[in-house]
Amino acid sequence: MTTQTTHASPDLPLDMIIFGGGGDLSARKLLPALYMAHQHCNLPANTRILAIGRKNWTRDEYLGFMEEHSKPFVEHKALDPVSWDKFLSLFEYVRIDVDSAADYACLAEVSRPGVRRVFYLATAPALFTTICDNLAAVGLVDEHSRVVLEKPLGHDLASAQAINNSVGQHFAETQIYRIDHYLGKETVQNLMVLRFGNAIFGPLWQAPYIKSVQITVAENVGVGSRAGFYDETGALRDMVQNHLLQLLCIVAMEPPVSLDPDAVRDEKLKVLRSLRRMTDEDIARDTVRGQYTAGAVGGEPVKGYLQEDNVPADSRAETFVALRAHINNWRWANVPFYLRTGKRMQKKVSEIVIEFADLPFAIIPAGPRNYGNRLVIQLQPAESIQLQMLAKEPGSGLKMLPVNLNLDLEQAFTERRAEAYERLLIDVVRGRLTHFMRRDELEAAWAWVEPIIEGWKRSGDKPRNYTAGTFGPAASSALMARENNAWSEES
Ligand code: BG6
Repeated sequence: MTTQTTHASPDLPLDMIIFGGGGDLSARKLLPALYMAHQHCNLPANTRILAIGRKNWTRDEYLGFMEEHSKPFVEHKALDPVSWDKFLSLFEYVRIDVDSAADYACLAEVSRPGVRRVFYLATAPALFTTICDNLAAVGLVDEHSRVVLEKPLGHDLASAQAINNSVGQHFAETQIYRIDHYLGKETVQNLMVLRFGNAIFGPLWQAPYIKSVQITVAENVGVGSRAGFYDETGALRDMVQNHLLQLLCIVAMEPPVSLDPDAVRDEKLKVLRSLRRMTDEDIARDTVRGQYTAGAVGGEPVKGYLQEDNVPADSRAETFVALRAHINNWRWANVPFYLRTGKRMQKKVSEIVIEFADLPFAIIPAGPRNYGNRLVIQLQPAESIQLQMLAKEPGSGLKMLPVNLNLDLEQAFTERRAEAYERLLIDVVRGRLTHFMRRDELEAAWAWVEPIIEGWKRSGDKPRNYTAGTFGPAASSALMARENNAWSEES
């Protein structure tokens, strides 16, 4: 989806400066995404990429790291040796200890004058302030600079505000790109088109025509090598505060007046601010925390969370969350939004299910599975939109059974789909802010999530166990069943 740029941006050469250049995120996501952008001529002519790391590497050693750790993540059929070599020629490696102010002088020497500098901070958020202060101190921040901040941005409202304050001392809000890679996914952007490009859903997209909304982001992977980070973070901060709430915003927002960044972000902000704050009583009733125990995923036995490397034996980190949220506004009054995410679940699936209201009066008996109309928007692994309808079962008599109107987006559009990071990096280079979070949005998301974190702490309860390879603890199904609803795989 193309959106307007925030401000006229002269076509300057680019210095892309990646802090955390030797890290996992850079290796697996950013560098392959930059390669694809380069291969499709989406980087300005005369681009350079400066990878910043703590290790005492030479340039050749860094290129060796890329060969070993990034190249395998480039889609096989996209790899072209000539183009890869050209891509490598864009790189410099600069060793910097981010805490050492003196080290930034080398960066100032290497970075060219009169270019657009994009600083990508793929580091722990605790370092964002120091890095920005030091960049400004050596004169590297000017009106053409942009900074990209990786999630998680803080671990609560106060820490997010502190980061925003300090970054804001050096960069204007229009120069700050807070990344949530879900906003770069093709299907997430398509959701806006589905809602605002098709008149058919407009009149129905509200209470009382919608009975409930469910948003699931299930992963089958465990915490892998990220236990150190994950155990401090948990699923609520890692997934709900950002990815799931952003999906909820796109489902629930009012039509923006245009696709200008602020028009879209104003509407998302209103949704976040309308989320009903949870009391301790709500938290006990409407949230479920889980932690996986040993089980099997895809037929392979897997460890429980507490047996993963670097996880404390008494960890209470949640690897699963299900909750019921409410949006206090006219459009959504009394429509429950069920959110669910977890690791080591039965399969990887991200989907949004809009369940339309029951018939006011049933004159035709439904079949064995008594459900009505649903719109299922699957984001991954497949990109599809299904409208589940009830139709007459063949044969004598009148009996209804569900059938699908099925739109397979991958068949409908066979063009290459850019990965989320590639698309978002191109947006940064071109100055398009629509798919990045504004400061007030991020803080409103923390303001809603924080009482849940606090409430869980106060309750002293442990997360409920669920066996790896399932869809979470039984309490998650019970949360739905209470209101005569069911998660999509259970109905
Ligand atoms: C990241 C989380 O933001 O999103 C990870 O930190 C999670 O824990 C990942 O695995 C999921 O992203 P995707 O694109 O694979 O759904």
